[in-house]
Amino acid sequence: MIRTLFKSDLNQLLEIEKLVHVTPWTEDTFKTCFNSGYVGWVIELDKKIIGFIIISLTADECHILNLCVVHEFQHQGWGWRLLENALIHAKQKGISIAYLEVRKSNTRAISLYRGMQFQLIGQRKNYYPTEAGNEDALIFALDLREA
Ligand SMILES: CC(C)(COP(=O)(O)OP(=O)(O)OC[C@H]1O[C@@H](n2cnc3c(N)ncnc32)[C@H](O)[C@@H]1OP(=O)(O)O)[C@@H](O)C(=O)NCCC(=O)NCCS
Repeated sequence: MIRTLFKSDLNQLLEIEKLVHVTPWTEDTFKTCFNSGYVGWVIELDKKIIGFIIISLTADECHILNLCVVHEFQHQGWGWRLLENALIHAKQKGISIAYLEVRKSNTRAISLYRGMQFQLIGQRKNYYPTEAGNEDALIFALDLREA
């Protein structure tokens, strides 16, 4: 059910983005990811994508850039599986640390990251735009050598 994300998935990814994210990625953002060699995976059920993850890998770091699951399939372990799959890939590449940023109010995502032993390492004040103004970003890291 988990497969590599392809450029041809773009239209479905854009639809999911609009449904689940406060500030959805645009087509240009996805194209920048594809052109930068970032990697990703999707969960596909009955030929329909229900969630995806995109990461960037540098020599020693993995950055989780996007993770989402459509509403009707949330809370069923799909987010966990996507993240786990990405981290296993990074670890197999010899990468020692994974980073991600999340809105302070995003309790579901934070619960997932904490459950996977990510540690809070920092905070960016007023980093994300919201309808009411701005919101802090929490920065989490996971030491893949111990994971
Ligand atoms: C964040 C998001 C990706 C999580 O996906 P999901 O499929 O709903 O998450 P899961 O079902 O895998 O995990 C959710 C819960 O189960 C727990 N869980 C799942 N699998 C688990 C496992 N094998 N072992 C232990 N805990 C597990 C998680 O810790 C989490 O806890 P909680 O919901 O009880 O607080 C999803 O809610 C989403 O797409 N949200 C909108 C977009 C977004 O916010 N993305 C993240 C941006 S940083």
